Parts: sequence; C-alpha cells; structure tokens
Amino acid sequence: MAYNRRMLKPIPDFLYGTAWKEERTADLTFQALQAGFRGIDTANQRRHYHEAGVGEALMRARDHGIGREDLFLQTKFTFLAGQDHRLPYDRHAPITQQVQQSLKRSLLHLHTDYLDSFVLHGPMYRHGLHDADWEAWDAMTQLKQSGVVRQIGLSNVSAGQLQELVANADVPPSYVQNRCFAALGWDRDVRALCANHDIKYQGFSLLTANLREIQRPQVIELAERLRLSLPQLVFGYAFSVGMVALTGTSSPQHMREDLLAKPLDATDAETFEIWTTK
Ligand SMILES: NC(=O)c1ccc[n+]([C@@H]2O[C@H](COP(=O)([O-])OP(=O)(O)OC[C@H]3O[C@@H](n4cnc5c(N)ncnc54)[C@H](OP(=O)(O)O)[C@@H]3O)[C@@H](O)[C@H]2O)c1
Repeated sequence: MAYNRRMLKPIPDFLYGTAWKEERTADLTFQALQAGFRGIDTANQRRHYHEAGVGEALMRARDHGIGREDLFLQTKFTFLAGQDHRLPYDRHAPITQQVQQSLKRSLLHLHTDYLDSFVLHGPMYRHGLHDADWEAWDAMTQLKQSGVVRQIGLSNVSAGQLQELVANADVPPSYVQNRCFAALGWDRDVRALCANHDIKYQGFSLLTANLREIQRPQVIELAERLRLSLPQLVFGYAFSVGMVALTGTSSPQHMREDLLAKPLDATDAETFEIWTTK
C-alpha cells in the first residue's frame, strides 16, 4: 500500500530521546536508528537539544534505507523562559507567531514537511493554565488542523493543568510527556486522567528519577527471577501499564538491551509497583 501522509502513524512503545547530546547528537541518534528505534523525541530548544543534529542523523538513516515514512518524529515548542539566547523565533513576536516560526525551523532542521507529534514543552507556570498557554495551544491546534502536524501534546503537566486543558480545549492533547516518579505512583494521577481521555502517556527519567526505588533488594530480586536487567524491568513495567517509554542512552549496548524490553505480566507488574511505590 502506498504511504499516505495523512494517515496517522501509531506511536512506537519506545522513543529515543535526544536531549543533552550536543555534538554527539547526530552520531547517537543515527546509532539509535540503526539499533532499531523508530520513534524520535527532540525539541527546538538549543539550550538542551541539537535538533539540526537529529536532522543530520535522519539524512544518514535515509541513505541506509530508513525513510521518513518509517519514523515517528516528535518535537516541541518551548516558551522564551525555557530558551537561551539561541532562539528559534522572534522574541518580540506574539506567541502564535512564535509557535509557527518554531515549527517552521523544526521542519527545516528535520528535513521533513510534517511532524507526527508537536508538543508544548510545558505550561508557562507551575499552577493553572494562563493566557500564554491558551494562545500556544490554539496555535498548535491550528497547525494540527492544517495537517502539518498530526497530533499535539503537552509536557511537564500536573493533573490539575491537564484536567483544565481537556475540559476547555477545542482539541484535546493526544500525548502527555512527563517525568515519571515512582514516589508519585509512577505519576498515577496524570496517567489516570490520560486513560480516561484517550491520551497516550509518555514517561521520561524512568531510570534517573527513581534510582533509590528501583535499587531496593525486592526489586533486584524480581529482576533476577525474571532474568531482566533493572532497566528492562522498569521499561517492561512502563509498557505493561500502557506508557510509551523514553530512553536517551548514549550506549549502543544499552540501546539494544532497552529494545528487548517487553511488557511484564500483570502479577509481576503489580509486584514491581508495590515494591517501588512503598
Ligand atoms: N519534556 C521534557 O521536559 C523532557 C525532560 C527531560 C527529558 N526529556 C526527553 O526524555 C529523554 C530521555 O531522558 P531521561 O531523563 O529519561 O534520561 P536519559 O537522558 O535517557 O538518561 C538515562 C541514564 O540512565 C543510564 N542508563 C544506564 N543503563 C541504561 C539502560 N540500559 N538503558 C537506558 N539508560 C541507561 C544512561 O546511561 P548510558 O548513556 O550510559 O546508557 C543515562 O545516564 C531525553 O533525551 C528527552 O528527549 C524530556
């Protein structure tokens, strides 16, 4: 069947995260694609990401038979407060235009004419949604309606903010991307809202935010019994509760190891959750 660019592509279980890789971004992203990752998460935020380096990796991958149609590409719009001096838009422009300018540059960086997902990097403030958030969301909604982005999402969001968005937005988010803390029941409240509103939850810092919890003796024992590495156990748990997992590993060996992770069965997932959320 010929590929139809209007068709929605399912999001892969794993997204390869491209933050904090600087001049290694192109090489590591290419290695991840060669290892088998087909979902890429980036941001047009030079402070933490090198989006053009991701684009370079995509070009190399295309020369090795991995084409745009094989990939799920996600990037983000970041408000001024989250940027450094290397802005992807005019700092004086209204937010609607900043969203449009940021997306336009992302498409150039990534050598594509559409995105599978475009995410608001985070609400302007920790509590509630404010005018800037609504203006950005409306601009993103228009981009979705134009077809240049397939789906829109929101990151770094509290349950209250997500509730406010789904209650009032013309177009609800398809994705939420959050730092996922075991101590909060693996972001239980936000995940429950996502489940109720048909939003796919993407979890990041699954390993790094939870080192203490996943190194408990009972968790290590469970990993040994299942013959899994601790990262495979964590990612397996994430899949079994319906999350998309992010990993930004810089190690080719860890890339391969992570891709072997499979959902845990229900009893093992429950055991893991009990020992990591106590
Ligand atoms: N929306 C946001 O605000 C936001 C914020 C942060 C991150 N993100 C996204 O999420 C992505 C992932 O970030 P992250 O915070 O989850 O952490 P990360 O940057 O992927 O760090 C994972 C750490 O765990 C280590 N590790 C050890 N064994 C591993 C294994 N088998 N598999 C994977 N990692 C292993 C890695 O070391 P090695 O490199 O040696 O494997 C690395 O130090 C980012 O690149 C970015 O795309 C988004």
